[in-house]
Amino acid sequence: MTIAKIQSVRGMNDILPDEAEFWDMFDEIIRSWLKSYGYRPLRLPIVEPTPLFKRAIGEVTDIVEKEMYSFVDSLNGEALTLRPEGTAGCVRAVIQHNLIAQQPQRLYYMGQMFRHERPQKGRYRQFYQVGVEALGFPGPDVDGEQILMGARLWDDLGLDGIKLQLNNLGQPAERARHRAELISYFERHGEELDEDGRRRLHSNPLRILDSKNPALQELILGAPQLIDHLGGESLAHFDGVQQVLRDAGQPFEINPRLVRGLDYYNLTVFEWVTDRLGAQGTVCAGGRYDGLVEQLGGKPAPACGFAMGVERLIALIREAGGETRAAAVDVYVVHQGAAASRLAARVAEGLRDRGIDVLFHCGGGSFKAQMKKADASGARFAAIIGDDEASAGEVTLKPLRSFGEQPNVQMRVTVDGLADEIMDCILNWEES
Ligand code: HAM
Repeated sequence: MTIAKIQSVRGMNDILPDEAEFWDMFDEIIRSWLKSYGYRPLRLPIVEPTPLFKRAIGEVTDIVEKEMYSFVDSLNGEALTLRPEGTAGCVRAVIQHNLIAQQPQRLYYMGQMFRHERPQKGRYRQFYQVGVEALGFPGPDVDGEQILMGARLWDDLGLDGIKLQLNNLGQPAERARHRAELISYFERHGEELDEDGRRRLHSNPLRILDSKNPALQELILGAPQLIDHLGGESLAHFDGVQQVLRDAGQPFEINPRLVRGLDYYNLTVFEWVTDRLGAQGTVCAGGRYDGLVEQLGGKPAPACGFAMGVERLIALIREAGGETRAAAVDVYVVHQGAAASRLAARVAEGLRDRGIDVLFHCGGGSFKAQMKKADASGARFAAIIGDDEASAGEVTLKPLRSFGEQPNVQMRVTVDGLADEIMDCILNWEES
């Protein structure tokens, strides 16, 4: 009888070591980039009460209507959901712990999000986001700063060709007036709408503007524009953001059709888009959400943020030929014989004490077999200990990679002098 293998859930991927090491390096770059802008980390639950997302993201959005992994806690009947995004949870935590009572906050989080979408390249049911939120800042300066943070990161990651799209969604009252005009416009052209459009006509007519259906494009082009309904303050905010971008020499395109799939936005919205990833080309997206803190029960506070899709960014780095293998360890410890193995374990720990990365051979085998493994590990050196070395209190140090001008020869070193010898070699190697 064959036993059926259990596979991972469709759209949820394992990240195997070669890739995961690269993800770790990516995380490090992200953390130091965020630190350089004064953002501080938050670790948030993956599961939140379902009403949080309904209230924050909006009942008639695609995410809430059909993409949430929701379930009832069988122990207490509570409606719960695997987070489809991080802004709602972040704002919930900020309110719950009164984080912005004294001063504004710049916060970030990293981790898995869950959306029951149709999986395809760049679109998964479990995916990772880096989310960046600034709470308590009303001005366009912070919107501008957040957008420019993206530009710096693309540069740090060696990515080019990521284009910035910008729009301004105004304030709720301005949107309401525009919405009423949109509905009457689409009603007048009801027979030209597709099924999706007819469904959204009264629930979320703005989303019709985002339709990819070629048959609708002409109709969409002639639709009333939100920009014509914006008042002085909204226009001034928009000008302020554009000024920051122009001052920094950051090119952008104003896209009046950029409406975003979450309901909490007002004023600035933006997306960073590449054409190198096929259909799922948005690597980073966000905007201002001044009403959300109050909507979730907090004291009114302005806010603004964005999130990046990690899988998409990593695919882009790969596509650009970025290094995808993390550096191997420094030393592979090869050993044989009882006394030699005990000494080897001590040697390995001693090297680690000095900050040297060590792979200690496990599983026995001949010297020849172990040396093969040492070579395949990518380590720079093998530290070899047999009976002979053990009785002399020494180690044979064999370079596995040629380095600099120095001859690639092995040498005997005392156990106590080993770390210094390795550090000297590495230093010479890096200088040459
Ligand atoms: P979002 O546009 O829904 O915004 O997602 C942000 C980014 O997450 C997208 O641009 C994309 O790179 C990535 N992403 C979204 N869905 C998937 C998926 N199914 N598979 C792979 N990647 C995906 C938000 O989530 C907002 N919370 C952003 C924000 C933060 N706005 C203000 N603050």
